[in-house]
Amino acid sequence: MKKVLVVASALISGAIGFLVYSFNKNLDYHVVNHRLKVLPPGSKPIKILHLSDIHMSERQNRKRKFIKRLYAEAPDLIINTGDNISSNFAIADLENSLNELLDIPGVFVFGSNDYFAPRPVKPLRYLIKKPFTVSRRTIKRLDTLRLEKILKSKGWILINNRRDTLEVNGTKISFVGVNDPHIGADEFPYLEHNAIPEDSVLKIGVTHAPYIMTIQQMLDDDCDFIFAGHTHGGQVRLPKLGALITNSDLPRKYAKGLFDLSEVHSPAISSVKPVYLQVSGGIGSPPSFPLRPFNAPEAVMITLLPKGA
Ligand SMILES: [Fe+2]
Repeated sequence: MKKVLVVASALISGAIGFLVYSFNKNLDYHVVNHRLKVLPPGSKPIKILHLSDIHMSERQNRKRKFIKRLYAEAPDLIINTGDNISSNFAIADLENSLNELLDIPGVFVFGSNDYFAPRPVKPLRYLIKKPFTVSRRTIKRLDTLRLEKILKSKGWILINNRRDTLEVNGTKISFVGVNDPHIGADEFPYLEHNAIPEDSVLKIGVTHAPYIMTIQQMLDDDCDFIFAGHTHGGQVRLPKLGALITNSDLPRKYAKGLFDLSEVHSPAISSVKPVYLQVSGGIGSPPSFPLRPFNAPEAVMITLLPKGA
């Protein structure tokens, strides 16, 4: 009997330890840094800050402070891949957090949680692949127009289903973006046959959800980079196993991180030339499912350097 009690208490302590560790990891906001030598020789470096899945709710002071601190990292370009808010009451907090970052050149696309408030999710159902559906009974629209106005207020460019260009530190970058494929809002803006070829040094594809079809469209469009969010790094990760799901058809292995698609062994998303797929693990999660075990919230900084530097 005594032995059973010892084993039981060890198991309970282990479970409590796991939960405490997971919760601590959940709170551990951090910046992931990458450096890539991809610019023509002599170019000035470009620091790209990738923000995604902020899912701002009210009274999230630690999250707000983390986002505000990102300005000190001195990015040259911001790419925001959507899912900014969980409720209309949090729009002011989002604006306050992003205030200084909005002064820096940026582009953004929207995710489903820029249009609709997240619905309550049963944790086990989250792990089951289910197509996104909008129920008239439970749908709660977000104030997308107000959000858009704030994000555009100092010059960020919305590239939902459209193209645009920016010159950053003397390098011309072209962007091709899509509205969220997860809710079927994407309409890839194909170039017309007689369009003038783009003369940019870099081409960046931007999407909220990293569906294989969207990645393939961006590869066919000759992108050098593809930025995406949506996966939350799998939301639940387990040691050694990693992500359990990606909430899309992207293989679990690519739930978060920077991948050179010329080196991946998944035929669905491989490329002949080096193309970098950047999938953000995200800064937040929906209030209905805030746990991110073994999956710390992140912002990502990619520093592009000249070749041979
Ligand atoms: Fe999200």
